[in-house]
Amino acid sequence: MPKVSRRDFLKTSGSSVAAGAAATITGVAVAPSTGGAAATSATSPYEKKTVAQAETLKTNVPMSFTYPDASSPCTLIKLGQAAPGGVGPDGDIVAYSSLCTHMGCPVVYDADRKVFKCPCHYSTFDAEMAGQMVCGQATEDLPRIVLQYDAADDSVQAVAVDGLIYGRQANIL
Ligand code: FES
Repeated sequence: MPKVSRRDFLKTSGSSVAAGAAATITGVAVAPSTGGAAATSATSPYEKKTVAQAETLKTNVPMSFTYPDASSPCTLIKLGQAAPGGVGPDGDIVAYSSLCTHMGCPVVYDADRKVFKCPCHYSTFDAEMAGQMVCGQATEDLPRIVLQYDAADDSVQAVAVDGLIYGRQANIL
Protein backbone atom coordinates (compact mmCIF):
# COMPACT_ATOMS: atom_id res chain seq x y z
CA MET A 1 0.00 0.00 0.00
CA PRO A 2 1.51 3.37 -1.01
CA LYS A 3 2.39 5.73 1.78
CA VAL A 4 0.38 8.97 1.73
CA SER A 5 1.80 12.05 3.39
CA ARG A 6 -0.33 13.99 5.84
CA ARG A 7 -0.23 16.98 3.47
CA ASP A 8 -1.46 14.96 0.44
CA PHE A 9 -4.18 13.36 2.53
CA LEU A 10 -5.51 16.74 3.70
CA LYS A 11 -5.40 18.14 0.15
CA THR A 12 -7.36 15.20 -1.22
CA SER A 13 -9.97 15.08 1.53
CA GLY A 14 -10.42 18.86 1.35
CA SER A 15 -11.20 18.64 -2.37
CA SER A 16 -13.74 15.90 -1.75
CA VAL A 17 -15.50 17.93 0.92
CA ALA A 18 -15.59 20.99 -1.35
CA ALA A 19 -16.97 18.94 -4.25
CA GLY A 20 -19.62 17.42 -1.99
CA ALA A 21 -20.64 20.82 -0.68
CA ALA A 22 -20.93 22.19 -4.21
CA ALA A 23 -23.09 19.25 -5.23
CA THR A 24 -25.35 19.79 -2.22
CA ILE A 25 -25.75 23.48 -2.92
CA THR A 26 -26.48 22.77 -6.56
CA GLY A 27 -28.99 20.14 -5.53
CA VAL A 28 -31.17 22.54 -3.52
CA ALA A 29 -31.22 25.32 -6.10
CA VAL A 30 -34.47 24.31 -7.71
CA ALA A 31 -35.51 27.72 -8.90
CA PRO A 32 -35.22 28.47 -12.61
CA SER A 33 -33.62 31.73 -13.70
CA THR A 34 -35.53 32.29 -16.90
CA GLY A 35 -36.25 36.00 -16.50
CA GLY A 36 -39.85 36.76 -17.37
CA ALA A 37 -40.15 33.71 -19.57
CA ALA A 38 -43.14 31.53 -18.98
CA ALA A 39 -42.47 28.26 -17.24
CA THR A 40 -44.27 25.32 -18.74
CA SER A 41 -45.99 22.67 -16.70
CA ALA A 42 -43.81 20.08 -18.44
CA THR A 43 -40.59 21.58 -17.07
CA SER A 44 -41.57 23.42 -13.88
CA PRO A 45 -42.58 21.99 -10.52
CA TYR A 46 -44.42 25.23 -9.78
CA GLU A 47 -48.16 25.70 -10.05
CA LYS A 48 -49.38 28.75 -11.93
CA LYS A 49 -51.31 31.12 -9.65
CA THR A 50 -53.23 34.26 -10.62
CA VAL A 51 -52.27 36.95 -8.12
CA ALA A 52 -53.83 40.14 -9.52
CA GLN A 53 -55.59 41.90 -12.36
CA ALA A 54 -53.16 44.44 -13.82
CA GLU A 55 -55.73 47.23 -14.13
CA THR A 56 -56.50 47.09 -10.40
CA LEU A 57 -52.89 47.73 -9.35
CA LYS A 58 -51.95 51.21 -8.17
CA THR A 59 -48.49 52.44 -9.09
CA ASN A 60 -45.94 52.03 -6.31
CA VAL A 61 -48.45 50.54 -3.86
CA PRO A 62 -47.39 47.07 -2.67
CA MET A 63 -49.82 44.16 -2.67
CA SER A 64 -49.36 41.03 -0.57
CA PHE A 65 -49.93 37.46 -1.70
CA THR A 66 -48.45 34.04 -1.03
CA TYR A 67 -46.49 31.80 -3.39
CA PRO A 68 -45.72 28.98 -4.01
CA ASP A 69 -47.70 28.04 -0.89
CA ALA A 70 -49.61 29.73 1.92
CA SER A 71 -46.57 29.93 4.22
CA SER A 72 -44.49 31.97 1.77
CA PRO A 73 -45.41 35.68 1.88
CA CYS A 74 -44.65 37.75 -1.20
CA THR A 75 -45.07 41.33 -2.35
CA LEU A 76 -46.16 42.49 -5.80
CA ILE A 77 -45.58 46.04 -7.03
CA LYS A 78 -46.40 48.02 -10.15
CA LEU A 79 -43.28 50.18 -10.26
CA GLY A 80 -44.42 52.72 -12.85
CA GLN A 81 -41.51 52.04 -15.20
CA ALA A 82 -40.23 48.91 -16.88
CA ALA A 83 -37.91 46.77 -14.79
CA PRO A 84 -35.97 43.49 -15.21
CA GLY A 85 -38.46 40.63 -15.14
CA GLY A 86 -41.37 43.07 -15.16
CA VAL A 87 -44.63 42.02 -16.83
CA GLY A 88 -47.92 43.66 -17.78
CA PRO A 89 -48.74 46.25 -20.43
CA ASP A 90 -45.89 48.46 -19.21
CA GLY A 91 -43.45 45.74 -18.15
CA ASP A 92 -43.38 47.26 -14.68
CA ILE A 93 -45.09 44.67 -12.48
CA VAL A 94 -42.64 42.72 -10.33
CA ALA A 95 -42.86 40.53 -7.25
CA TYR A 96 -40.53 39.20 -4.57
CA SER A 97 -40.49 36.98 -1.54
CA SER A 98 -41.15 39.10 1.55
CA LEU A 99 -38.67 37.17 3.67
CA CYS A 100 -35.22 38.69 4.10
CA THR A 101 -32.47 36.37 2.91
CA HIS A 102 -30.38 37.08 6.02
CA MET A 103 -32.53 35.64 8.81
CA GLY A 104 -36.05 35.68 7.42
CA CYS A 105 -37.53 38.87 8.86
CA PRO A 106 -40.37 40.33 6.77
CA VAL A 107 -39.06 43.13 4.57
CA VAL A 108 -40.93 46.42 4.17
CA TYR A 109 -41.34 48.29 0.88
CA ASP A 110 -40.01 51.86 0.79
CA ALA A 111 -42.04 53.57 -1.95
CA ASP A 112 -39.77 56.63 -2.06
CA ARG A 113 -36.62 54.66 -2.91
CA LYS A 114 -38.35 51.62 -4.46
CA VAL A 115 -36.40 49.25 -2.26
CA PHE A 116 -37.27 46.65 0.33
CA LYS A 117 -35.82 47.29 3.77
CA CYS A 118 -35.38 44.73 6.50
CA PRO A 119 -36.16 46.14 9.95
CA CYS A 120 -34.05 43.52 11.76
CA HIS A 121 -30.52 44.26 10.55
CA TYR A 122 -31.16 46.85 7.85
CA SER A 123 -30.48 44.91 4.67
CA THR A 124 -31.84 46.67 1.60
CA PHE A 125 -32.94 45.11 -1.71
CA ASP A 126 -33.62 46.94 -4.98
CA ALA A 127 -37.14 46.36 -6.36
CA GLU A 128 -36.13 47.88 -9.71
CA MET A 129 -33.10 45.60 -10.11
CA ALA A 130 -34.59 42.11 -9.69
CA GLY A 131 -34.29 42.19 -5.87
CA GLN A 132 -30.56 42.84 -5.88
CA MET A 133 -29.03 43.16 -2.42
CA VAL A 134 -27.89 46.77 -1.98
CA CYS A 135 -26.45 46.78 1.53
CA GLY A 136 -26.73 45.16 4.93
CA GLN A 137 -26.21 41.75 6.50
CA ALA A 138 -27.81 39.68 3.75
CA THR A 139 -25.55 38.07 1.16
CA GLU A 140 -28.23 36.91 -1.28
CA ASP A 141 -30.68 38.85 -3.43
CA LEU A 142 -34.35 38.76 -2.55
CA PRO A 143 -35.96 35.79 -4.34
CA ARG A 144 -37.88 37.06 -7.34
CA ILE A 145 -41.31 35.68 -8.08
CA VAL A 146 -41.38 34.96 -11.81
CA LEU A 147 -44.55 36.45 -13.27
CA GLN A 148 -46.36 36.25 -16.57
CA TYR A 149 -49.14 38.40 -17.97
CA ASP A 150 -52.18 37.19 -19.86
CA ALA A 151 -53.54 40.04 -21.98
CA ALA A 152 -56.72 38.09 -22.70
CA ASP A 153 -58.02 38.52 -19.15
CA ASP A 154 -55.52 41.08 -17.80
CA SER A 155 -54.31 38.60 -15.20
CA VAL A 156 -50.87 38.58 -13.58
CA GLN A 157 -49.75 35.09 -12.70
CA ALA A 158 -46.96 33.74 -10.54
CA VAL A 159 -45.27 30.85 -12.29
CA ALA A 160 -41.96 30.22 -10.49
CA VAL A 161 -39.44 31.52 -7.95
CA ASP A 162 -35.97 32.70 -8.95
CA GLY A 163 -33.88 32.19 -5.81
CA LEU A 164 -34.23 30.14 -2.66
CA ILE A 165 -36.87 31.33 -0.19
CA TYR A 166 -35.41 31.93 3.27
CA GLY A 167 -35.49 28.93 5.61
CA ARG A 168 -36.09 26.34 2.91
CA GLN A 169 -33.99 23.64 1.36
CA ALA A 170 -36.32 23.71 -1.65
CA ASN A 171 -38.98 26.22 -2.65
CA ILE A 172 -41.56 23.49 -3.21
CA LEU A 173 -42.24 21.74 0.11
S1 FES B 1 -33.04 39.40 8.93
FE1 FES B 1 -32.92 40.95 7.42
S2 FES B 1 -31.00 41.86 7.68
FE2 FES B 1 -31.08 40.32 9.20
